[in-house]
Amino acid sequence: MRRKKNIDLRIENCGKWFNSFDSEQKDARIVEKELIDFKDFFGNSNEVVLEIGCGKGKFAIELAKRNPNINVLAVEKCDNVLVAAAEKARDEKIENLRFICCGAEYLQRYIDDNSISALYLNFSCPYPKKRYSNNRLTHSKFLEIYKKILKKDAFIYQKTDNLHFFEYSLMSFSNNGFYINDISLDLHKSGIKGNIMTEYEEKFSSQGFPIYYLKTSLNKTEDK
Ligand SMILES: C[S@@+](CC[C@H](N)C(=O)[O-])C[C@H]1O[C@@H](n2cnc3c(N)ncnc32)[C@H](O)[C@@H]1O
Repeated sequence: MRRKKNIDLRIENCGKWFNSFDSEQKDARIVEKELIDFKDFFGNSNEVVLEIGCGKGKFAIELAKRNPNINVLAVEKCDNVLVAAAEKARDEKIENLRFICCGAEYLQRYIDDNSISALYLNFSCPYPKKRYSNNRLTHSKFLEIYKKILKKDAFIYQKTDNLHFFEYSLMSFSNNGFYINDISLDLHKSGIKGNIMTEYEEKFSSQGFPIYYLKTSLNKTEDK
């Protein structure tokens, strides 16, 4: 995406809502930890939920507004996109929401083990070509990271419009020790309550595409 004018200034003006983390090192695994102190970061000890690949932040903003007693941490690797999200959060003064600009590959460097209560993967890039499959956010490389940073009873929620990516993700979760706790091949007709629409979800569902949904965890049980 073309870099927008004045992006650095816009980022600076987002204050605490926009946090840039270094994700330039070639090998994401060999790093010294620089853990975020969540109490300091959010100003409270409430639980923290994570969205990866938040885009322009519609989902994260609504999730934070609906749940003032949880902290929402939303990650996006593209600063051009993320700045719009952080500006909205700043303008609406959403105190329980922070955005970080960082590739998911690097999250273990910044997020402590067993510290995240839920993870949302909304319309992650499907990377349809097999040779790029290790960029999919449900590739085993990423699931290993999630296993570390998620609490043991945490759920991962995934939504996508892409059936091939959905099937791939189901296999990947299953092959990596996750149980599928809930699933829908047409979320909007499923009766599952409390759905928050993302930007991509609005676009695809308005074109008549079904939304695939799953909820998964390392626990067989349905709910916490
Ligand atoms: C297709 S968009 C979906 C945006 C939003 N979640 C939605 O549903 O409207 C996927 C987003 O994930 C981001 N992304 C892809 N790979 C990522 C990674 N490894 N780490 C962080 N963000 C990533 C992309 O930059 C893009 O903004």
